[in-house]
Amino acid sequence: MAKQVVTTICFVLFHCIISYCAFMSSCSVHSSTKNSIPEIARYFGTKGRYEEVNTYLIDDILAINNSLVTLPSSTCHEIHLTAIIRHGTRFPTAKNIQKMRDFYDLVVRNATDNLNCLSEIKSKWHMWYKDEMDGRLVEKGREDHRHLAQRLIRWFPSLLTEDNVRQGRVKLITSSKHRCVNSTIAFREGLMTGLRIDDKVELEPAVNDALMRYFDQCERFVKEVENNKSALEEVKRFSEGPEMKRVMEKMADRLKVPYTSVTDDSVAAAFYLCSYEFTILKVNSPWCQLFDEVDAQVMEYAVDLKQYWKRSYGHDINSKSSCILFHDLFYRLDQVVTHINSDVPVSEAITVQVGHAETLIPLLSLLDLFKDDVPLESTNFATQQNRIFRSGRIVPYTANLLVVLYKCPEGIRMGVRLNEKSLTLPGFTDPVPMYEEVKKRYSALLGGCDQETVCKMNYS
Ligand SMILES: *[C@@H]1O[C@H](CO)[C@@H](O)[C@H](O)[C@H]1NC(C)=O
Ligand SMILES: *[C@@H]1O[C@H](CO)[C@@H](O)[C@H](O)[C@H]1NC(C)=O
Ligand SMILES: *[C@@H]1O[C@H](CO)[C@@H](O)[C@H](O)[C@H]1NC(C)=O
Ligand SMILES: *[C@@H]1O[C@H](CO)[C@@H](O)[C@H](O)[C@H]1NC(C)=O
Repeated sequence: MAKQVVTTICFVLFHCIISYCAFMSSCSVHSSTKNSIPEIARYFGTKGRYEEVNTYLIDDILAINNSLVTLPSSTCHEIHLTAIIRHGTRFPTAKNIQKMRDFYDLVVRNATDNLNCLSEIKSKWHMWYKDEMDGRLVEKGREDHRHLAQRLIRWFPSLLTEDNVRQGRVKLITSSKHRCVNSTIAFREGLMTGLRIDDKVELEPAVNDALMRYFDQCERFVKEVENNKSALEEVKRFSEGPEMKRVMEKMADRLKVPYTSVTDDSVAAAFYLCSYEFTILKVNSPWCQLFDEVDAQVMEYAVDLKQYWKRSYGHDINSKSSCILFHDLFYRLDQVVTHINSDVPVSEAITVQVGHAETLIPLLSLLDLFKDDVPLESTNFATQQNRIFRSGRIVPYTANLLVVLYKCPEGIRMGVRLNEKSLTLPGFTDPVPMYEEVKKRYSALLGGCDQETVCKMNYS
């Protein structure tokens, strides 16, 4: 009996090894990974998973890593947290779903399945994305926010307390987009679970697009950048340049289709298929086998270039469009400081604001963060290999900017973290400077940067 079991196990094991080897060699592009994480996952840019930025979360999603954070001296204690958070993992937009469908059809109809990953796509994969999924939050996206809330409780145990929730000292603000509203609701669930509050507590998110989608309401940004093709000229040049051309040709060679059949939309669609299958379903899909590492770096650069010109340092108005959110932040912090200085209890211990990658990037740029010495351009892909402006590092799903105020014997200090890692503000050496020094550093913005003025068309 026992012998038979052992034999069976050996037999099964043998077959597993054989199939595994077959899988390993399934595509000649590059060898497959041992695990379910695509080798190119760190190049997904704004379509990237939060866990790729903090890999210790892969083993324990509720872990916090203290070695990534610098605290002020132990004589200080936290008095306020503002968290500005991107929504969680979502479905592709309807526009991108169409591109994915077109590319899938090309592979099924026209590609020659000499590569096993192609036969895998043709025989096992089906186009399951539907137009109505259009940008909605997926279950993983809800988990992203529930887990972030639970980690924030561990990071800030004296602020995220049951008492603060019950006394209305926690505020939730969100963009009106369904993926943001649903992220905020998931965040609240995580908060309630983490604090073991199981009765109904009044904690309704307030929708505020003037703050969380300020970019729609800044006329100058809309006219000069959003609706202006020539504002993204560098992005277009790169998509027609030699690096992207090479990615398209390699893709056509792999599919054995004429070069004219593969466009920049096709390679973008293939890259989406790889990234969405991974972030939504947690699988390393055969689509990922259509890219090698250099291809993925080119795709990443195309995304970063677009973010740079549309949301960041490419045009001055991009960051200036966030003036309203910048002022809202400092107004909030000032109020806390006023309360502390006059010995009145702080009325807002935690402010959570849920928005978009497009909410965070301009604000970070306004603060002069992640600014390379040389601009990102269509012609400098090669020399920008070590750039600090990397959207996948800065704004993966559930990206979060955490601004913390501390009360110390010498006064109020301010700490900033992005994605649960301390940041030192440009111009400072101390990662937790005095709040008044921070205000001095940004005094020009605090004294100006008026939304109405900067967003007017005739302003210069
Ligand atoms: C915390 O982060 C550091 C630096 O990235 C890393 O070396 C360490 O392994 C992490 N700690 C844990 C517990 O994963
Ligand atoms: C938001 O979440 C609710 C409940 O979880 C769900 O029924 C609804 O479809 C979600 N909306 C979107 C747009 O994802
Ligand atoms: C469009 O962008 C270009 C390049 O930045 C700029 O020169 C031009 O003035 C913009 N057009 C409008 C209508 O703002
Ligand atoms: C795919 O092949 C068909 C013929 O089988 C052809 O008509 C069509 O143009 C091809 N599509 C592309 C995008 O190359």
